[in-house]
Amino acid sequence: MTIIKAPRGTNDVLPSDSYKWRYVEAVADRTAARAGYKEIRFPTFEETELFTRGVGDTTDIVQKEMYTFEDKGGRSMTLRPEGTASAVRLSLENGLLAGALPLKLYYKINVFRYDKPQAGRYREFNQIGMELYGAKSPFSDAELISMAELFLKNLGIDGIILKINSIGCPKCRADYQNALREYFTQHISELCDTCKDRLQRNPMRILDCKSPQDIQLAKNAPKITDYLCEECREHYSAVKEALDSVGTAYEEDSGLVRGLDYYTKTVFEFIDVNTSLAVAAGGRYDGLIEELGGKPTPGIGFACGVERLFPLIPAFGSDISPDIYIASMGPVAAKAAFDTAVALRKNGVNVETDLMDRSVKAQMKYADKTCARFTCVIGDDELASGTADLRNMSDGTAKKIKISDISELTAILKNEVHICD
Ligand code: HAM
Repeated sequence: MTIIKAPRGTNDVLPSDSYKWRYVEAVADRTAARAGYKEIRFPTFEETELFTRGVGDTTDIVQKEMYTFEDKGGRSMTLRPEGTASAVRLSLENGLLAGALPLKLYYKINVFRYDKPQAGRYREFNQIGMELYGAKSPFSDAELISMAELFLKNLGIDGIILKINSIGCPKCRADYQNALREYFTQHISELCDTCKDRLQRNPMRILDCKSPQDIQLAKNAPKITDYLCEECREHYSAVKEALDSVGTAYEEDSGLVRGLDYYTKTVFEFIDVNTSLAVAAGGRYDGLIEELGGKPTPGIGFACGVERLFPLIPAFGSDISPDIYIASMGPVAAKAAFDTAVALRKNGVNVETDLMDRSVKAQMKYADKTCARFTCVIGDDELASGTADLRNMSDGTAKKIKISDISELTAILKNEVHICD
């Protein structure tokens, strides 16, 4: 019988790699705590309307990439293609916006987009995102950008450039949309079919279409920065000033519009210079909370693509490899090894021991594979003397330990910092 494979564009996390995920998630937890962002969790699927209304029905995400299905009750549901709309829904439904503001949230989620799978582009991928509600100050834009920057720095990631832009508010957007309509109408025959439809409904979406012809046309299109109203221009200047004052380097990119409809004013992307892929991206969305049924409340946030971060992380923290592997020879020793393992685990030590009735040689091979930091072998001699050699696997040195002295063994093992190469 043939083996069923994972769906195209999805990834398994194997035992040898899962510690990398825990590491990235732990760094996210630590980074979020620096500025008081608290974790939320929300459903993998939501009513489809949340995304058509929130993300926008002329976006690529909604028009081409959503996993939408009818449930057995005939309701249209969608696997979340991002987290911002759900975070707003969660906050509104649970009255969080009626509490102390600003509200600062973060999440670690898998998301689903029916995209064309290629390097760094998947159909199921993971995002770590932070969102802030209730603050319109340019310092809140700078805070979110600096939180994304801090997260990347805490992961040891280099070689990233920050691109920023302002895409204005509905007030300045009206004139801009007209200018775009005029420009693209002259090239209507060259537009892809989706963009012909967007021309009337939302010409700004043509600017982030992935069709090569439309990308070419977008290069000479009018720029939003020439249409910003005074308030938006001032806000943008203040954001740049705040970034300058904390030494955050950025490049202004007047072509950066982002692919989701909810953005207003500041938008930004952290780009990997080697692949040109965005590893994190976000922006302000002052109309989204109202659009989803709340009181007018400003919002801003970003999300990182976790799979895109992995190749850029120079060193992952320690994994859960055993602090000690206890090998045994014969059934009596196996019982002593098992008893010692269970007792040490209760003391917070990572321990593995043989469960397969293997030879000592095979057990040591397994210990090596699991990157055990220490090993000890219990056989007849050790049982008779009550002592064994505790061997440090990185330098081969050994010291005698009393098998039954669990406290001493715990102290020795806990004294060592466990690092797996
Ligand atoms: P986004 O730009 O669509 O924004 O996605 C955020 C990040 O997810 C991207 O910068 C990228 O790293 C990663 N990403 C996107 N698509 C893929 C894919 N197919 N495969 C792998 N990684 C991918 C949002 O989702 C917004 N919700 C961000 C936000 C939060 N804005 C405000 N708050």
